[in-house]
Amino acid sequence: MTVKKRRPIILDGDPGHDDAIAFVLAAAFSDELEIKAITAVGGNQTLAKTTLNYRKIATLLNLKDIPIAAGRDNPLLADLVIAPNYHGESGLDGPTLPEPEVELCGLSAVELMAKVLRESEDKVTIVATGPQTNVAALLLAHPELKDKIECISIMGGGLVHGNWSAAAEFNIFVDPESAKIEFLSGVPVVMSGLDVTEKAYVTPEEWNKIRNIGNPIAKTVAEWCDFFYIRLKELGWPGVLMHDPCAVVYLTHPEIFTWKDCYVEIDTEGEYTKGATVPDYYGLNGQKPNCRALVDVDREKFVEIMYEACKSFGEGK
Ligand code: BDR
Ligand code: CA
Repeated sequence: MTVKKRRPIILDGDPGHDDAIAFVLAAAFSDELEIKAITAVGGNQTLAKTTLNYRKIATLLNLKDIPIAAGRDNPLLADLVIAPNYHGESGLDGPTLPEPEVELCGLSAVELMAKVLRESEDKVTIVATGPQTNVAALLLAHPELKDKIECISIMGGGLVHGNWSAAAEFNIFVDPESAKIEFLSGVPVVMSGLDVTEKAYVTPEEWNKIRNIGNPIAKTVAEWCDFFYIRLKELGWPGVLMHDPCAVVYLTHPEIFTWKDCYVEIDTEGEYTKGATVPDYYGLNGQKPNCRALVDVDREKFVEIMYEACKSFGEGK
């Protein structure tokens, strides 16, 4: 019998309710994905809080052997902007999570990522669901390891509009210079931007079904949705936008997405457009595509996948 090779991944993010759900899905897809490391970045909340949240989620998932490292607390050039209006004071408000039983590994995020890349036989995929600060720091410190990166699957940006300013999505708005380094690095980027993530929503009825699965992880996912929806409902959304999970689900279920390969520039200076991901949609500048921009998703299949993932942790208590 041949054993299927799993895709090695590094999860880098700023949990954050949707980062947390992205982690749960990556853990559920463990027959396809092998989480080699987890690295936290300042974003939705301060680095201290996002790091603590990753340690708590790893404890909830009983994943105590995956090394976790803290990364950059501030963007490359600017001061950190946080999003407590969406994610609360802890960055992951809502259900009470277990006290962390996983310590930090003792390396910085860049050191840990570099170690994983260096030691891996196969190319590694980086899933980056916060500001791109840690990833840019890695690319700057270790250009020799670029070839070991299969692709960087990010949540960030959008071809058409923003959510933090008219033109910019939060993750790119917070640290546009790092995003620019990443997009110009030559490493393929898969961009789950707002074009697709706003279509990947889960309604209250759907996450109540997840709650009713009954295992502690499914219940926690539903309670994260309860909290995240407070702000999203005020904004008129029909459900919780699964921004960050798209960056994971693309890796395991690419067939439910559609995309456009194109060249994307990051605007770091615009008066109105700082942090915008500017697509050369029609290839006018003659540059080869540096980015696969996801633009649509089969929402019902996405919800089904999320339901099955939560169910994989067991039924009942
Ligand atoms: C992104 O911003 C954060 O609030 C979410 O975690 C997601 O990564 C959406 O714009
Ligand atoms: Ca995030």
